[in-house]
Amino acid sequence: MTKRMPHPSKGFRVAGLFAGIGGIEHGLHLAGHETKVLCEIEPGACAVLAKRFPGVPIHRDVCDLEALPRDIDLLTAGFPCQDLSQAGKTVGIEGTRSGLVGEVFRLLRRRPTPWVLLENVPFMLQLSRGRAMEVIVASLEHLGYRWAYRVVTTQAFGLPQRRERVYLLASLHGDPREVLFADEAGEPPPPEHSWKVANGFYWTEGVRGLGWAVDAVPTLKGGSTIGIPSPPAIVLPEGRVVTPELRDAERMQGFDPDWTSPAEDVTRKSHRWKLVGNAVTVDVARWVGERLANPSPRGALVEGTPLEGGERAWPKAAWNVGDGRFAASISKWPFQRPGTSLERFLKYPSRPLSTKATAGFLARTKTSSLRFPPGFIKKLERHLAAATKADEGRQLSLL
Ligand SMILES: C[S@@+](CC[C@H](N)C(=O)[O-])C[C@H]1O[C@@H](n2cnc3c(N)ncnc32)[C@H](O)[C@@H]1O
Repeated sequence: MTKRMPHPSKGFRVAGLFAGIGGIEHGLHLAGHETKVLCEIEPGACAVLAKRFPGVPIHRDVCDLEALPRDIDLLTAGFPCQDLSQAGKTVGIEGTRSGLVGEVFRLLRRRPTPWVLLENVPFMLQLSRGRAMEVIVASLEHLGYRWAYRVVTTQAFGLPQRRERVYLLASLHGDPREVLFADEAGEPPPPEHSWKVANGFYWTEGVRGLGWAVDAVPTLKGGSTIGIPSPPAIVLPEGRVVTPELRDAERMQGFDPDWTSPAEDVTRKSHRWKLVGNAVTVDVARWVGERLANPSPRGALVEGTPLEGGERAWPKAAWNVGDGRFAASISKWPFQRPGTSLERFLKYPSRPLSTKATAGFLARTKTSSLRFPPGFIKKLERHLAAATKADEGRQLSLL
C-alpha cells in the first residue's frame, strides 16, 4: 500500500524545464496549477513564454540552473529526445550527467520535488535497446520515487492529430497510477480507409513512412527529413491537396490560435511550425493536471505483469510503486472524446500543396516500396496537373 498523496490546497507549484512554448505548463494552469519558474534556451520559445506566462521568471540554460526554488511541488520536463541516446550509453547512474535529462536528475538530487512529470516520444521506450529508459527509471527509483508511465494519444482528446507521447509521472509519496491510469476508454477499432473524409500524410516523405492518418493529420513535427519544419499535407474529400494554416496546427495541439505569434518578434514566421511541432498537447497536460488534483484509486487497480530485467523495448505503460516493476494493461486512450472531422476542424484558409512539393513527393513514390492507399497517387497526379495549370495561369497574367 502506498500512502495517500499530500495535496497542496491551491494547486501545485510548477517548475517547467525545457518548457518550449509551455504546452505542459499551460495545460497544468488550466487545471488550477501555477508555474513558478520556467527554463528554456531557445529565443523564439522564450518570447512565447514571456508573453504567455507574464511575470514568471525564465531561466535560459538548464545546465546553469543551480537549484530549483524551494517550494516547488512538481517539476516538468519534456527534454530533447536526442539526449536520451547519451543517457543510454551511461554506465553508472549516480553522479553522472547523461545528456540533458541528467540535468533533471542533478536538480532532483539537489532538491527533490514531490512530483515529477516527464514527457517524450515513444521511441524513448526502445532507444539504446531499452537502456535509456532503464537509466531514467533507475535514477528515479534511486532517488526514492514511485513512477508510472503511459503512452497517450492526442486523438483520445477529440483532436484530429495522431500524436503519441510517453508521459511519465513520479512521486515521492503518492501513487502516480492514480493519476495516469485513472481513466481508460480502451482502443477504438482502427479507422477504415475512406476518401469521404480528409486524410493527412507527410508530403516530405514518400519513401519511408507516409504517416497516413484517416480523418486526422499525422504527428506535427519539429523537423522533417527535408530539414525544415513543415506542415503535413491533407487530401480533402473533394480532391484538393492542401497544407493546414499555422493557427489550425496550434489548435490541433490544444493552443489558442496565434499562441506562438510572439516568436515572430525574434525569429521568422516559419519557425513557429517547429515550436508547435515540439510542444506537448495542452489537453493531455490539462488532464494530467486535473487528475493530480483529483486522483482516483481506480488507477491503482490496473492489471499488470512483472517486467523482466534487461528489456529491449519497454511496454506502452508500466509502473513501480515500491514493489517491483510491472507492465500495465492499459490503452493509449484514457478517453474517446468525440471531435469534429478534420475537414470541419480546419478554420483558417489552407494552401494548396505547391507544384514543387507535389512533384517532389510523386518522384519519391516512384522509388518507394511503400504501399499507398488505393487511388492516392491518381489524386496527387490530378492535383499536380491542376497546380501546374494554376501556376501557368498566374505567369500569363503577369505578362
Ligand atoms: C521537446 S521540446 C519541449 C516542448 C515543450 N514541452 C512544449 O510544450 O512546448 C524541448 C525543449 O528543450 C529546449 N532545450 C534544449 N536544450 C536546453 C537547455 N540546455 N536548457 C533549456 N532548455 C533547453 C529546447 O529549446 C526545446 O524547446
